[in-house]
Amino acid sequence: MSTLHGFLFGAYPYVCLTVFLLGSLLRFDRDQYTWKSDSSQMLRPGLLRWGSNLFHVGILFLFFGHLLGLLTPHAFYGHFMEASVKQQIAIWSGGAFGVLCFAGLSMLLWRRIVDPRIRLTSHRTDIAILLILWVQLVVGLITLPYSWSHSDGSVMLVLADWAQRILTLRAVDAAALAGLPWPYLFHIVLGMTIFLLFPFSRLVHVWSGFGAVGYLFRPYLVVRARRLNLPAGHVTPPSRS
Ligand code: HEM
Repeated sequence: MSTLHGFLFGAYPYVCLTVFLLGSLLRFDRDQYTWKSDSSQMLRPGLLRWGSNLFHVGILFLFFGHLLGLLTPHAFYGHFMEASVKQQIAIWSGGAFGVLCFAGLSMLLWRRIVDPRIRLTSHRTDIAILLILWVQLVVGLITLPYSWSHSDGSVMLVLADWAQRILTLRAVDAAALAGLPWPYLFHIVLGMTIFLLFPFSRLVHVWSGFGAVGYLFRPYLVVRARRLNLPAGHVTPPSRS
């Protein structure tokens, strides 16, 4: 195992996680006016409608798929599902939503680069983040035939163990990943880099997207007239005359 490999899979995950969490917190605290998805719908809605919807449906499925797939301990589902079955589900569902996401993301990238109006109003990071997501998605799709060729789920278990150790702050065995084919390694490193860049881009809107679910459970707004139902002994506010 090379020193670079040891760094990328042993230390870099923690660097990314720290920058992702602290960076998001600092940006929210210090720079709230820049905390937005920066929609370009008003400038040119056309391709955005299909592009954005296909992309978001795909990416949200992939995001939660990775989260559940990688972070659910084998002991939890091993009683009722073989690792190989779980891998088959991941390959087929990930492949299907990956293709949806690819179509949407390609449309978004196309309009951002080719449409002069969108291009002129784009920040460098807007284009960079779309490009990075596009490359990440393509490499993710390239891993599918590799996963298919060892469908016993063994590689998935190695990767899941590695990811679970990082999030539970246990020692990571970077060497366990050393022999994996390049698309897996590239996909993992670029995936971590996306978390690293997250606080510096429009991706911060993802926090708000998930946070908006809280709106469904918010307390009702209680409005009371000042003169009515005052408890006994309450000092009545002076009347405005
Ligand atoms: C949590 C739920 C999410 C919500 C509510 C949301 C919402 C939005 C909105 C309103 C826009 C502006 C563009 C438009 O009008 O369609 C947008 C753009 C964008 N979102 Fe999301 N988003 C979510 C999750 C994500 C995720 C998980 C990613 C990727 C990791 C992502 C990446 C992007 C990107 C790259 C753009 C810019 C697209 C462009 O070029 O215009 N979003 N999002």
